Amino acid sequence: MSEPAVPFGNYQFEIYLKGLAGTLPALPTSYKELESTAQQALSAEAFGYVAGGAGEEITVKANRAAFERWRIVPRMLVDVTERDLSTTVLGTDLPAPVMFAPVGVMSIVHDEAEKAVARAARELGLPMILSNAASNTMEDVATELQDTPRWFQLYWPTDNDLAVSFVGRAKDAGYRAIVVTLDTRLLAWRPRDLARAYLPFLKGEGVANYLQDPVFRKALDKSPEEDPQAAIGHWATLFSNPGLSWDDLAFLQDHTDLPIVLKGVLHPDDARKAVDAGVDGLIVSNHGGRQVDGAIAALEALPEIVDAVPGDFPVLFDSGIRTGADVFKAIALGARAVLVGRPYVWGLGLGGQEGVKQVLRSLLADFDLTLALSGYTKLSDVGQQALRRTDAL
Ligand code: FNR
Repeated sequence: MSEPAVPFGNYQFEIYLKGLAGTLPALPTSYKELESTAQQALSAEAFGYVAGGAGEEITVKANRAAFERWRIVPRMLVDVTERDLSTTVLGTDLPAPVMFAPVGVMSIVHDEAEKAVARAARELGLPMILSNAASNTMEDVATELQDTPRWFQLYWPTDNDLAVSFVGRAKDAGYRAIVVTLDTRLLAWRPRDLARAYLPFLKGEGVANYLQDPVFRKALDKSPEEDPQAAIGHWATLFSNPGLSWDDLAFLQDHTDLPIVLKGVLHPDDARKAVDAGVDGLIVSNHGGRQVDGAIAALEALPEIVDAVPGDFPVLFDSGIRTGADVFKAIALGARAVLVGRPYVWGLGLGGQEGVKQVLRSLLADFDLTLALSGYTKLSDVGQQALRRTDAL
């Protein structure tokens, strides 16, 4: 018989026991302190790029306020000794309903960038969604991940041959799904970055997948090594594609046999269109408030979207996940799993691989304890009945 898995919540005992020997957690265990510690440690440019959002950051704030409007109603006298947090999404097994959101240009917060995240993901067995705009190539990150499940996020470029090359490389490197991010057809107005005229891509960060791509390289007169500025100039013409429409999805479906997941859906009609188009899953997300300032909080959109799609259609969620209670609420509102973004970036900036690991272990422990203390032992029992909406903020 195999040993029963150690509950994620037991991480707190590890912390308390180490405390007896005089060792405290390396990073803060609350999100607010994690973010403020990162602010002190990182350059103003890097911190502003990660923390910032579009416009006045109304939607960044709305994402959090939406979580506060839902409150958990714990149930008593339920045996919660054994909990099972595992789930499966599109054939990918998850030990808990948590994945790494695709976050680009992580070299701005840590030299090892996505490679360190990948090593943490491997240790935790949590799937990583690698950004198209990563600072390391998808092949190098796959090497670090070894057999850890992974998906590849695509920013559909203006050149379809390049899109085909990206998804082909992703398949060859063992990525099991393509996440097409829809909300970044243009880069939004982001005052924190504008004030510093800071766009890391122009300095050659976050373009590794492009610079190493055979289709990308073929279009250049000189290699990126010989003429980096020309390569960046070419990247700028390709990066985002404001011309994409629903009809284009068939092209991608014809060129990959991997499941296709659309990220950035906020309207139930778009969710229905996605189902009609034959895609395999959705991620309800407003890109962490980084694209349309004033956009609806992603959590506000979640229940409507879950209602609009067939019952077994995978709907994932991101934008504002900070704590175990947030994971619980998103699951209760119908998400199959959630993506964690900014929290792990702060972990990376402050402590590399170990920092990412601590942030994720803390989140998993907090979620496990919230689940148990709310009177649940498995995800499929957690529904809207576990929540109440409140106006009291
Ligand atoms: C992102 N996000 C993102 N999304 C994506 O599809 N491709 C990308 O390259 C990036 N890059 C990126 C960089 C940075 C610095 C941030 C903070 C975010 C969005 C990300 O996947 C996710 O949707 C948000 O991070 C969710 O919001 P919170 O929970 O991090 O606030």
